[in-house]
Amino acid sequence: MATANIKQVARHAGVSLGTVSNVLNRPDTVAPATRQRVLDAITELGYVRNDSARQLRAGHSRTVAIVVLDVANPFFTDLVRGAEQVVEDAGAMLVVCNSGEDSARERRHLDLLQEQRVRGVLITPVGHGSQPHLDMLIDRDIPVVLVDRGTGQASRCSVAVDDVRGGRLAMDHLLERAHRRIAYVGGPFSIAQVADRHAGAAAALEDHSDAELRVATTTSLTVAAGRHAAEDLLALPALQRPTAVFCANDLIALGVLQEMTARGLRVPADVAIVGYDDIEFAGAAAVPLSSVRQPREQLGRTAAQLLLEEASSGETHRHRHVVFQPELVVRQSSDQPRR
Ligand code: RIB
Repeated sequence: MATANIKQVARHAGVSLGTVSNVLNRPDTVAPATRQRVLDAITELGYVRNDSARQLRAGHSRTVAIVVLDVANPFFTDLVRGAEQVVEDAGAMLVVCNSGEDSARERRHLDLLQEQRVRGVLITPVGHGSQPHLDMLIDRDIPVVLVDRGTGQASRCSVAVDDVRGGRLAMDHLLERAHRRIAYVGGPFSIAQVADRHAGAAAALEDHSDAELRVATTTSLTVAAGRHAAEDLLALPALQRPTAVFCANDLIALGVLQEMTARGLRVPADVAIVGYDDIEFAGAAAVPLSSVRQPREQLGRTAAQLLLEEASSGETHRHRHVVFQPELVVRQSSDQPRR
């Protein structure tokens, strides 16, 4: 059944269109008895407000969108929580879209957000595939802020953590614990954060010619991908097997931890593990996980603040690229020297 329109509500309540509009937008200007009659008509007819039309007439929407790589990753839950606080304090609403690390799906979300003329878009892009779609949003005066992804691009703001430094922190820690056969588990490398963390780890090796960094590339940043990568590492001949594993994020690290312990290895005695993000489950793991901490809620808050600044200041806005510093949190999963 088609939903009722505002005319049917007015007729049903025996009031003018203007009165129904006042009940919806300025309810305190309508006499209580009349207001209740209109609200009863809305309920009885099942009227649903067409907010996008009203918002379009007003020239802008009250909806901000965030497109995340993986809603199952607690990193994004915390990031969204931070953004949501700022957006709702500004009287707007945040809607969450999940690209699932799939470029085509990400582009479908961006097309819809453009049609809906949202107030702005926060996004952790899957890769470079959606660049034209992001440019299209900006051409239509819909600001875009890159989150957890720094680029220095002139056409948009960004908020990120120095992932190259984060990779170096993890590697320096493992090298200091006397590990020399180390694996980096993560992927795809089309996700810039994955590539940057690896770059930092590789740079740390430059001062240790006796050390090697084996890359185990994964197709996603999930627990399952970590388990499969651990299986491959365990299939290596004993003298080639790494004594430490640095993972591109905590979900992968939890998968590596699960597989290694399931196969009877002791963590860290037989293999040390370091993750990235420091999500809540890292510290709560069966073997508490060392991890490179990202200020997740602060990333979300800052990204939302930049977006709302740009959405309200228009031409006078100057794009900013905020970079936070990572912090290594050492826990049991890597906190002893290699035997
Ligand atoms: O945003 C890409 C990756 O960086 C995510 O997996 C998240 O965990 C962060 O570490």
